[in-house]
Amino acid sequence: MNELTGKSAMVTGAGRGIGRAIAIALGKAGCAVTLTARTEAELHNVQQEILAAGGKAVAHRADLTRDDDLHPLIEACGPVDFLINNAGWGKRASVVRSRVDDWDQTFRLNLRAPMILAKELLPAMIKKGQGAVINIGSVSGKSGEANGAAYSASKFGLIGFTQSLYEEVREHGIKVAVILPGFVDTPMIPPVKHLDRGKMIQADDVAEAVLFILNAPATACPVEITIRPQRSPYK
Ligand SMILES: NC(=O)c1ccc[n+]([C@@H]2O[C@H](COP(=O)([O-])OP(=O)(O)OC[C@H]3O[C@@H](n4cnc5c(N)ncnc54)[C@H](OP(=O)(O)O)[C@@H]3O)[C@@H](O)[C@H]2O)c1
Repeated sequence: MNELTGKSAMVTGAGRGIGRAIAIALGKAGCAVTLTARTEAELHNVQQEILAAGGKAVAHRADLTRDDDLHPLIEACGPVDFLINNAGWGKRASVVRSRVDDWDQTFRLNLRAPMILAKELLPAMIKKGQGAVINIGSVSGKSGEANGAAYSASKFGLIGFTQSLYEEVREHGIKVAVILPGFVDTPMIPPVKHLDRGKMIQADDVAEAVLFILNAPATACPVEITIRPQRSPYK
């Protein structure tokens, strides 16, 4: 038994990478987890892994850029104690060469969906006087770089959203936090010659930070955690 036993959580982007690691860590800690992403087979695998370890998990397919999918997801999952906004995407391209459609997808997934999920799932947390919203940002939310304008702008926005939301709900006992990882060894990072994957952060390391926030004393909220690789992955 620990602080998380018997609690419930929604994890977005739970099919692979960081979201998978967070979902499995929460399942092992005794949370009933709602897993969501677009790829059903990946969600199914994560669900089976949690169930096999004696945990509780349900999977609900949704494209978080679509309102048609977002609202049924919210209805299906019902009230949760913890919302982990992890799903994210961005296409690398210069501002001049980017497609505006890609920018829209990035903003809808990385910023708008977390805001809508928080808006809809917070009232139950407020009623209970406890809960948590944890957003997975990025070090790209602290400094921009060439060919990553929309991704970086969305992650800057996610930090602003986190800070504003924290000020709104802190008196209700709800933790609000953003985690800012550097390179994490997940499918999001394509194999490239100049990066040593062995030196990247592991998805489990980010999951550890989520547990750290959720297990923090009721008197303390770790609002922002930056995790950088110990050694530089650049060759
Ligand atoms: N990897 C890194 O180096 C790194 C560093 C800093 C921050 N981050 C952030 O960490 C988070 C997770 O990244 P990751 O590396 O684990 O990425 P990943 O391996 O590409 O996994 C992304 C997850 O999000 C889901 N997803 C993507 N588009 C979606 C959509 N439209 N609707 C619903 N779900 C969608 C994917 O599933 P489907 O494709 O099946 O939908 C997948 O489960 C992201 O917010 C990312 O920005 C990553």
